[in-house]
Amino acid sequence: MKQNNKPEIHPLIRQRWSPRAFKNEMVAEEKLMAVLEAGRWAASAFNEQPWRFVIGRRGDDNYQHILSSLVEWNQTWAGKAPILILNLAKQTFTHNGKANVTASYDLGQAVANMVLEAIHQGLDAHQMSGFDAQKAAKVLHIDDDFLPVSVTALGYSGKPDDLPDDMAKMETKTRERKPIQNLFL
Ligand SMILES: Cc1cc2nc3c(=O)[nH]c(=O)nc-3n(C[C@H](O)[C@H](O)[C@H](O)COP(=O)(O)O)c2cc1C
Repeated sequence: MKQNNKPEIHPLIRQRWSPRAFKNEMVAEEKLMAVLEAGRWAASAFNEQPWRFVIGRRGDDNYQHILSSLVEWNQTWAGKAPILILNLAKQTFTHNGKANVTASYDLGQAVANMVLEAIHQGLDAHQMSGFDAQKAAKVLHIDDDFLPVSVTALGYSGKPDDLPDDMAKMETKTRERKPIQNLFL
């Protein structure tokens, strides 16, 4: 992973990246719980905490169901990660049943916390939107009020050489971002 390191920002943010190569090593339950705990403390509208997670541990049914909902390209690499998490947003407020328009925004904040805690725990994470949300909801028997928004692969990043050639190249290329002056309207 190559990148530009100026100006100085928090090392956890600097270190975060999205690997596709994962080692064949399970994540200890305490580390997984620390990652989820970081998500739990995210901010949310009306403190609704609309985030929900289906945790797949390699070898269990949840893992197989989440993996089967990914687009083929994502299945190629994500099937090596020891943990797959389906990230869902509750679409209505619990206190009045009205639509919660920031549910996915709040979920994103929880997932961002989780990804940074993953780095803190010595892990890496790769988020995906390349999956079939309807299929995931169906195979996992998810209630309509919970929208599957993304999937996170979690584990220890591995060697790019273990990936197919096109993916291995992506793994080692310089990470790009828009210049900061392009962010303002
Ligand atoms: C919501 C979201 C959806 C993404 N979907 C995919 C995906 O389906 N497949 C994939 O390989 N990467 C996916 N990514 C990873 C992005 O491609 C990656 O974050 C981006 O290229 C920046 O690279 P970095 O995370 O290493 O900084 C996704 C990331 C986010 C946040």
